[in-house]
Amino acid sequence: MNLPNSLIDSPVNNKTLQRKTPEKEYPAYKSYIKNAFDAGQAHIFRWWNEITPSEKKKLISQTASIDFCLIKDLVNDALLKTPQPVRGNITPPHIIPIPKNDFEKGTAQRAKQIGEGSLRKGEVAILTVAGGDGTRLGINGPKGTFPITPIVRKSIFQLHAEKIRAIQQRYSICIPWYIMTSENNGPTTQGFFQSHRFFGLDPQQVCFFTQGMLPVVDLQGNLLMDSKSNIVMSPNGHGGTIIALGEKGILDDMERRGIKHIFYHQVDNVLIKIADPIFVGYHLMNHAEMSLKIVKKCHPEEKVGIVVNINGHLQVIEYSELSREDMYAKKEDGTLTFNAANIAVHMMNIEFLKKVHQRGETPPYHAAIKRVPYLNENGMTIIPEKNNAIKFESFIFDILKHVQKSVIMEVLREDEFSPVKNMEGENSPATSRQDMVNLFGRWLREAGISIPTDSQGNVIGLIEICPSFALDEDELRNKVDRRLQFNGNLNL
Ligand code: UD1
Repeated sequence: MNLPNSLIDSPVNNKTLQRKTPEKEYPAYKSYIKNAFDAGQAHIFRWWNEITPSEKKKLISQTASIDFCLIKDLVNDALLKTPQPVRGNITPPHIIPIPKNDFEKGTAQRAKQIGEGSLRKGEVAILTVAGGDGTRLGINGPKGTFPITPIVRKSIFQLHAEKIRAIQQRYSICIPWYIMTSENNGPTTQGFFQSHRFFGLDPQQVCFFTQGMLPVVDLQGNLLMDSKSNIVMSPNGHGGTIIALGEKGILDDMERRGIKHIFYHQVDNVLIKIADPIFVGYHLMNHAEMSLKIVKKCHPEEKVGIVVNINGHLQVIEYSELSREDMYAKKEDGTLTFNAANIAVHMMNIEFLKKVHQRGETPPYHAAIKRVPYLNENGMTIIPEKNNAIKFESFIFDILKHVQKSVIMEVLREDEFSPVKNMEGENSPATSRQDMVNLFGRWLREAGISIPTDSQGNVIGLIEICPSFALDEDELRNKVDRRLQFNGNLNL
């Protein structure tokens, strides 16, 4: 094993140096330390002689958590292979359309009854993935804690929690809510729930679990450090859900609670129809293993994944992996050929997930080039201006290739999809708030109340409807006072 230069060059005499090498101080971890050296990552111990005993302990345990062989393979793939647009016989998939005629409406109604039946039996759990770093939003803290609602400024987590409470009341059940966080944001997320008394939910029904982490490397494949004792680690992508559900015993816990299906969604979508009974019903009617909701893509370059069939198999192609030709391909009627935008709302069957886990069919990793602050070899923090790092993430939808039966259901973007991704512009808090106000405005208008809009169709004024008052348009119609005059600010 070769010592890193900084240890050899250290002013400490050789005897002390002998005592102070990581493997001498932590003999039980010798093999892990050797793995780091063998993988050419010895620089992570560059400051070994300068850090405190507790920092050393943390660095050693971080080292032990890293699969250096995996990282080496991922780095080689990322550096040596040029990413290719996805190829093969790509065709649009079969999609259940938004019901227009009586037949389609009747089928949706049947699906709803079946979905409601399953919800009443307590067969469905909610799974929210909230482990992302939310770097694009640029807030200090987990995305779910962001104050989002148009008037009251409830957090995204509170909004989801209130929807779950409303569903529980509607179906007289208690729905287990699983929230996936990462090591980076887990403690803050749990603290947030505790300090808000779980937003009125039973703390026993809210189960947090953490996903795995992977080191972040520079563009040459060297692990980055952000302090003299800390390797930069990043969550392993929402595909990490599959590993975590199996490894952490969550699937077994779900089975014990009588859960058969998971309603999966991303924390950032503020219009999410949690546990939508129609979607649950379609999933069940078709004996599907994993199902997806989609909306129509709004323009060819929209940054969403596209649901397609490739050589007869369902797949989501990320925007970055779609060829320009397929991105702009049009049908005879002028609409985009590949316009099924993945909104990351899924139903997943527990039995199917158990099989995937048992067979070790975990989703592969994708490399993403990002801008990540780091400590240079002189121990100075560098905030890079350009992309300088590679993060590795797996995607949950990559397990679609193991799926035999699936349902893809189209929904209206304005009713169900408005994610908070960026601080400004598209998919920002401002657009999400406006989308919420517009949705509530449509519900009120359907109930016969006059709501003014501007030339873009946006409601003029602010509206907020608490899920406990009305979870949907039908409930609002039954509850609202039709004599209500909208004065520009309505909080129900
Ligand atoms: C994602 C989807 C894209 C879809 C879009 C819809 C991917 C790769 N792409 O894009 O197909 O059209 O959402 O909004 O996901 N998360 C974790 N752990 C992680 C990484 C992410 O829990 O390690 C969670 C985040 O907290 C967030 C969600 O996954 O809730 C989405 O992550 P994000 O990186 O924002 O995905 P997008 O690139 O926007």
